Order: sequence, then C-alpha cells, then structure tokens
Amino acid sequence: MTDAAIVAATSQINTCRATGHVPVVRTFFDDPTFTATHVVHDPATMTCAIVDSVMDYDPASGRTDHNMAQEIVDYVTAEKLKVEWLLETHVHADHLSAAPWLQERLGGKLGIGESIIRVQDIFGKMFNAGTRFARDGSQFDCLFGDGARFMLGSLPVIALHVPGHTPADMAYVIGDAAFIGDTLFMPDYGTARADFPGGDARMLYQSIRRLLSLPDETRVFLCHDYKAPGRDEYAWETTIGAERHDNIHVHDGVDEDTFVKMRTARDATLSLPNLIMPSVQVNMRAGHLPEPEDNGVSYIKIPVSGS
Ligand SMILES: [Fe+2]
Repeated sequence: MTDAAIVAATSQINTCRATGHVPVVRTFFDDPTFTATHVVHDPATMTCAIVDSVMDYDPASGRTDHNMAQEIVDYVTAEKLKVEWLLETHVHADHLSAAPWLQERLGGKLGIGESIIRVQDIFGKMFNAGTRFARDGSQFDCLFGDGARFMLGSLPVIALHVPGHTPADMAYVIGDAAFIGDTLFMPDYGTARADFPGGDARMLYQSIRRLLSLPDETRVFLCHDYKAPGRDEYAWETTIGAERHDNIHVHDGVDEDTFVKMRTARDATLSLPNLIMPSVQVNMRAGHLPEPEDNGVSYIKIPVSGS
C-alpha cells in the first residue's frame, strides 16, 4: 500500500534540497532533562517554530522556573524572528513544557497530534483528573493527523503520526528537516522506550521504519540525547542515512520481532523518569499547571500503591 504522507514528505524534502530552500535550526539543550529544544526558522520570512520547549521544575519544592525558556525568548528577540508555531512532538514524561509561557510572550499557535485525546483519556483516568480536565485536545490550538500539511512562513510542513513511544507521537517534516521527537535517538544510542501507558514496541518499530523510508539526506533532529558510552558531547542532529546504516537498535536488517524482543527486555530494566508525575499532569494540559483548588493553589498528584 502506498504511504501517501511519506511520498509527500519525500517529494517535499527533495524539492527543498534541490532549491536550497531549507530551514535554519538552532538548538538549546537542557542538561537536567537531556532535552533538545529546536528553534527552526524560514530564512526567507524569518518565521519560526519552537519544537519541544522546557520549563524548569524543582520536584522537592514544586517550584517552576523559566531560565531555559528565557534563553529562547532572548534568541528569538535578538534574531527578530516571528513565532508562528509552538510544536509538541508528544506528551513528554521527563520534562515540563514551557509552551504556554512562550506563547504568552512570543505568540504562535500550539500544536500536537490528534491522538492526544487518547493520552488525555489514559492519564486523566490515572490521575483521577475530574471533569474540569477536558479530554478533547481543546487546550491546544491545532491537532494534527497523519499527513497534515501546513506552512512555516514560506516553508512547507508535513506532520507524521509515529506512535509507539506513546500513542500520540508526531514527527514534523519542515522543509528538508525532520523533528522526530522520541522515536529514534542518535545512531550510537538507539531508540526511545515503549513501555509508558499506551506505548507499544511493535508500533514503534513500524513508525521508525516509516521514518527510515524518507530520503537518506533528510536532516534529523532529536528530542533527547544521553551521550552514548564513549561519546563525550551531547548530539541531537543526524540523518536518515546514518540512522538506517548505524542505529544500534534498528539499522537496516533488524526485523520487527528482533527489535520488539530487544526493546521489551531493555524497557524492563529502565526506571521511571524523575519528573514523570509532574510532567504528565502538566503536559496533558498543554503545559498548564493543574486547575487550582479552592485555596487558589495547583497541586501535582502522586498515586500511591502498596506492594
Ligand atoms: Fe518522551
């Protein structure tokens, strides 16, 4: 069966490369959460998108801060960029999004994948979020389906639904650059975990194979890096060709069953991310804190269970 979204993305990437009409990407790396936030702009219109921003959070005190996000505001202001989009690749479980804070200061529309509704349903139940928490994606300005097309200034964008890490993961192909969230990591580090609620290693493999069918020259920007053993520097940019040839988990030739076995065994050894409880409860609300209680204070819940 023809994969229309991949065919369209391939043609877009080839055209952008042939004409040299490609985006400029500046990345901000948040060491505490190992997250790469990308500010990607169209040099023709100086219009930009901010992909996967980070709000600082101290779990002991419950205090939020915006040092990372302020760096982005400073960069956008200095470069005279106009923010058109704030894009989330998924509901992150390891850091809190700064998208609403950035939107207030810089403008732009906040977008995520349409399957967010499923994630809101899962986590809404898990955290007993109550009826004030809408589970229809209405906290976001735009919900993208697979193959959705939109513009960043004069650059074309195609959204790809790449579930597996979570049910709602998206990749955004902007010009010749693919922002792939938590699917693949650097070739020497492998792939994202698939054991969160609604995650699925088999689905992740299929999503990754779709991404790997894009042109080899496609620039690939990751959401995280953890420095593979033997590598001293953080890295967040690679290519589809490098991933196809060298990715330690899923290079060409690794079949679905082998991947699923490896991924499932590895996930069983991983502990939960430090910030999973606040991250999920804030990010399922598009980066907003939970609705304040009758004393005006927002609380993060922790479900407790016995052994
Ligand atoms: Fe993630």
